Amino acid sequence: MTTAPPQRPQLGLVLFGEQHLASLRAMLADEHVLRFSRVPVPVPDGFERAWLQSYQGGRVDGTREAFAIAGECDEFLGVALAPDINSSTRTVELGYLVAPEARGQGVATAALSQLTDWALSVLGALRIELYISVDNAASQRVAQRCGYVREGVLRSRHFKQDLREDTEIWSRLPDS
Ligand SMILES: CC(C)(COP(=O)(O)OP(=O)(O)OC[C@H]1O[C@@H](n2cnc3c(N)ncnc32)[C@H](O)[C@@H]1OP(=O)(O)O)[C@@H](O)C(=O)NCCC(=O)NCCS
Repeated sequence: MTTAPPQRPQLGLVLFGEQHLASLRAMLADEHVLRFSRVPVPVPDGFERAWLQSYQGGRVDGTREAFAIAGECDEFLGVALAPDINSSTRTVELGYLVAPEARGQGVATAALSQLTDWALSVLGALRIELYISVDNAASQRVAQRCGYVREGVLRSRHFKQDLREDTEIWSRLPDS
């Protein structure tokens, strides 16, 4: 008997905008988001609006981009990010946060796959990087499933505020 392949969720990446701010704010209450993202803890008042403005600025000067991950009925599932786009070196850092209720269904894997295709085809990236905590097994699995290669561990890398931690670096190139 053959086993059916796992279903990939139907989702799309849409430019992050004002209409997503309330959903982002709700997601910032999640302990895993606070633990593994660069969002400062405690989350400052108005953080999400300042965050949006910073990404809107990056959209204009080509240095960053933010997408909302939208489900089949346009529901908010999380965010897919390019926090650092270097058009001179054609190197792009990517990242992703999935809302707690949407986890465990392949959302991050499908979103990173689309985000990677976008970075390669639209930005013409020659190198894509992911920085993942050594403690974040789920995110490491997502990277692996999207064809990223684990290059090693950056020791005591500055993470946020006064926090440093050992961080894995993963990469994808156009053909590997
Ligand atoms: C990490 C995160 C993005 C994963 O999102 P998701 O939509 O649940 O991910 P997926 O369902 O696509 O895949 C998760 C994979 O990790 C595996 N996994 C989940 N928890 C795991 C754990 N504790 N240990 C090992 N693997 C784990 C799942 O089994 C799945 O692998 P599989 O498809 O081979 O079964 C989500 O948990 C999240 O937003 N966490 C907080 C923010 C964060 O860590 N962002 C990444 C920063 S680098």
